[in-house]
Amino acid sequence: MNILILGGGGREHALAWAINQNPKCDQLFCAPSNAGIAEVAQCVALNPEDGDAVVEFCAAESIDFVVIGPEAPLAAGVSDTLRAAGILTFGPSKAAAQLEASKTFTKEICTACNAPTAAYAHFTDADAALAYVRRQGAPIVIKADGLAAGKGVVVAMTLPEAEAAITDMFAGSFGAAGAEVVIEEFMEGEEASFFILSDGENILPIGTAQDHKRAYDGDQGPNTGGMGAYSPAPVMTPEVTQKALDEIVKPTIAEMARRSTPYQGVLYAGFMIKNGQPRLVEYNVRFGDPECQVLMQRLGAQALDALLATARGELDSARINWADDHALTVVYAAEGYPGDYKKGTVIKGLNVAEDDPFVEIFHAGTAQKDGQTIATGGRVLAVTARGGTLQQARTRAYDTIAKIDWPEGFYRKDIGWRAL
Ligand code: AMP
Ligand code: GLY
Repeated sequence: MNILILGGGGREHALAWAINQNPKCDQLFCAPSNAGIAEVAQCVALNPEDGDAVVEFCAAESIDFVVIGPEAPLAAGVSDTLRAAGILTFGPSKAAAQLEASKTFTKEICTACNAPTAAYAHFTDADAALAYVRRQGAPIVIKADGLAAGKGVVVAMTLPEAEAAITDMFAGSFGAAGAEVVIEEFMEGEEASFFILSDGENILPIGTAQDHKRAYDGDQGPNTGGMGAYSPAPVMTPEVTQKALDEIVKPTIAEMARRSTPYQGVLYAGFMIKNGQPRLVEYNVRFGDPECQVLMQRLGAQALDALLATARGELDSARINWADDHALTVVYAAEGYPGDYKKGTVIKGLNVAEDDPFVEIFHAGTAQKDGQTIATGGRVLAVTARGGTLQQARTRAYDTIAKIDWPEGFYRKDIGWRAL
């Protein structure tokens, strides 16, 4: 079959890498793309958020299956446009993508299905929000309701920080995303994420992971999209996983179906776990980046079968063959990220792991220019390795990244410390 992936980052490179290994895949396209994806798929200059243009491309290239990577096309309803055109699509409808696009929506779903999560209040004006935090005190968590590219959350340890966050959000620092604000109880514990495929009715868990959001070693520095990840997450013990499924994930999927907005795609659930009890922090309606890189490396070619079963509503009979293995990814970012950084610097030595079946260098922000690979983004590479133990995976990833020649890049040296 011919397959189109929407999105052009590290997550999509990992998806393309796994899908391309499955014999069911004939031609693989990716829109947009990057220098790494170009090695496994044909790059297409197409705006992934323009549903009509995607439908047109699918007709022209006889595309049988579309996999949507990022949240923006999902929130824009591209999956609805594709399904209306009769194209088999992996990714939730616009209505179901509310689970990521609106924090208030997710809170309402949790309330409706009694899923454990932080207590919250919802505000549309600054004065009421300020009065509320002054009554509650700190620590407290302030969230812009809408999509804010992962930046709309302030964990305020003091009351002045909370007040400043509220004032900023209502003053428009996150644009329309901050016109509504959710204020949450601060939860303590250890965070982990859980990835579950849902065809609307049936679910299939496909792995757990933990990521490192801060830019620098020791979980210091500014928040980023993620500087590294590993799978599985030790804190997601079989007992915690079962509780998460029974108390949070399954009730959410059932509530979405009850509302006639069934959830089809991957549900990325972020939990705070304390004393063996998971509570929901957030949902995302897509794979995490770089969590997808470790999940895909563990799943390999069977990922395509699982995504197809999801889109076809056949997850009741789908299975994953688990190897008892671990994967770890280290993000190589441009010096300065997540602030200002240089673009166009040259990366050499990207073939260092070519013959190593346990290591993959996934590209996030790269391009080819004059026969060289250049950095075009903040997060540029995700060096990903598999092993029988987490330590083995980690050693392989760090041995590889050390051989890449990119003076303008930096990476954390302590990915996986919590689990080791
Ligand atoms: P979110 O975008 O909702 O995932 O929030 C980003 C990060 O903020 C999470 O990964 C947590 O580390 C933190 N966070 C969000 N909500 C809470 C909460 N209620 N209590 C403690 N930390 C939180
Ligand atoms: N790594 C976090 C995310 O993809 O949202």
